[in-house]
This record gives sequence, structure tokens and C-alpha cells, in this order.
Amino acid sequence: MAGCCSVLGAFLFEYDTPRIVLIRSRKVGLMNRAVQLFILAYVIGWVFVWEKGYQEVDSVVSSVTTKAKGVTVTNTSQLGFRIWDVADYVIPAQEESSLFIMTNIIVTMNQTQGFCPELPDKTSVCKSDSDCPAGSTNTHSSGVATGRCVPYNGTLKTCEVAAWCPVEDDSNVPKPAFLKAAENFTLQLGILWVSCGPRAVTLLKPQGWGLL
Ligand SMILES: *[C@@H]1O[C@H](CO)[C@@H](O)[C@H](O)[C@H]1NC(C)=O
Ligand SMILES: *[C@@H]1O[C@H](CO)[C@@H](O)[C@H](O)[C@H]1NC(C)=O
Ligand SMILES: *[C@@H]1O[C@H](CO)[C@@H](O)[C@H](O)[C@H]1NC(C)=O
Ligand SMILES: *[C@@H]1O[C@H](CO)[C@@H](O)[C@H](O)[C@H]1NC(C)=O
Repeated sequence: MAGCCSVLGAFLFEYDTPRIVLIRSRKVGLMNRAVQLFILAYVIGWVFVWEKGYQEVDSVVSSVTTKAKGVTVTNTSQLGFRIWDVADYVIPAQEESSLFIMTNIIVTMNQTQGFCPELPDKTSVCKSDSDCPAGSTNTHSSGVATGRCVPYNGTLKTCEVAAWCPVEDDSNVPKPAFLKAAENFTLQLGILWVSCGPRAVTLLKPQGWGLL
């Protein structure tokens, strides 16, 4: 008990302070200043100026949102008078970090499932049914061959296919592009960096869009 009280007393009734020693020596003083100078040079030169430690660095985690704006009209014999807005030419409506704008189309009216002559090419032009193996198909065919050779037009016969008929004729691509006005559409890009908050950039008349 007495031992415990003396320890407590020693702890309560004491005060300590570091002692400062002043050494008047050129060698020690110079060394001290050199170390201080080195630390100062490191902080200012390396940390601030070289490494730019005062700048905020963000990892490249970001998202890009896109939005197209613009409306155009077409008046063709095939489709008649038609308005094209964002819902018609942006396909699919939403994509991650990208966007697709339709600029040209090949219209094939009233397609239904049925049997019709294939477009003429090296493999589909035929003289008799024996040129058309039933069930055959290849990368260029629009459907599955039925095994019959049928007239395509007045002069030409091609293999008949089971397909969406009439088959799409992609030999005449509309030129200039059907939706040429797309070159003047407005494209809005919103870029969101994780720690910097949203930044929106609007691009008017983007250059270098390839038209089909
Ligand atoms: C579409 O074109 C046709 C023929 O060129 C014309 O008669 C018709 O008035 C046009 N329609 C509109 C809405 O401009
Ligand atoms: C498509 O079908 C509609 C209605 O049945 C008809 O009026 C039009 O002429 C057809 N178009 C073609 C290219 O066959
Ligand atoms: C039949 O089609 C072929 C290929 O498209 C074409 O070269 C030919 O002139 C056409 N014949 C007639 C009579 O339309
Ligand atoms: C797009 O805009 C430019 C300048 O306003 C104009 O000269 C050009 O004809 C436009 N393009 C289309 C397809 O409307």
C-alpha cells in the first residue's frame, strides 16, 4: 500500500521538460542548415514544382453520356413524306459510352415470309432446278434455297429461297445518303469524372462522320 502511494505521489507531483542545448559550432550549425535547406528544397522543388502535389489526381473512372438532337424530313416516292427525329435515327436508343446515328437506309416495302427469287449473283443464277441444291445457304444468301429455279426478271433465272420476301436489293445504295442532314445534327457529350463532378461538352457539327 505504501509502495503504491509513493508511485502515485511521484507521478502526480513531478514535472518534466526537455533541455535545450545551444552548440556554438560552425560544423554542427552548417550541418543543421544543410539539412533544413535539403528539406525545404525537397518540399518546394520536388513535391510542389515537380510532382505537383497541390493538384488533385483522379483515377480514370468516368462515364460518358451522349445525346443527339436534330430533325429532318424526306419525301421519296417509296416512303412518301416522312419526318425523322431522334427516336427514328438513333439505334439503339441508349448505348453505353457510344451512340449510333443512322444516315442511310435501304427500304424494302411489305416484306413477308414466303418464297421468292434470290438476288442474282455468282451462286444464285441458275438454268435449271439441278443448279439449286435444296436447303443450301451461304453468307450472301437472303434465305434457304427451296431447290427450284425461278425467273428473276425477263432475262434472268435465280434460285428460289424461303425468306423475307421480296429480298432486299442492296445493289443500289442511296447516294447522297438518305439522311444526309445528319451531318448538321447536334451531339451533346456529358463527361462525368468520379471526383470532379459533371462536365458537359457540346459538340456542334461533328466533323468526320462517315456517311454510308
Ligand atoms: C412530296 O413530293 C411529291 C412529289 O414530288 C409532292 O407532290 C408532294 O407535295 C411532296 N409532299 C410534301 C409534304 O412536300
Ligand atoms: C405495300 O402494301 C401497301 C398496303 O397493302 C400497298 O398500298 C403498297 O402499294 C405496297 N407497296 C409495295 C411497294 O408493294
Ligand atoms: C435482270 O436483272 C439483271 C441483274 O439485275 C439485269 O442486269 C438485267 O438487265 C435485268 N433484265 C431485265 C429484262 O430487266
Ligand atoms: C449543313 O449546314 C451547312 C451550313 O449551314 C449547309 O451548307 C449544308 O447544306 C447543311 N447540310 C445539309 C445536308 O443540310
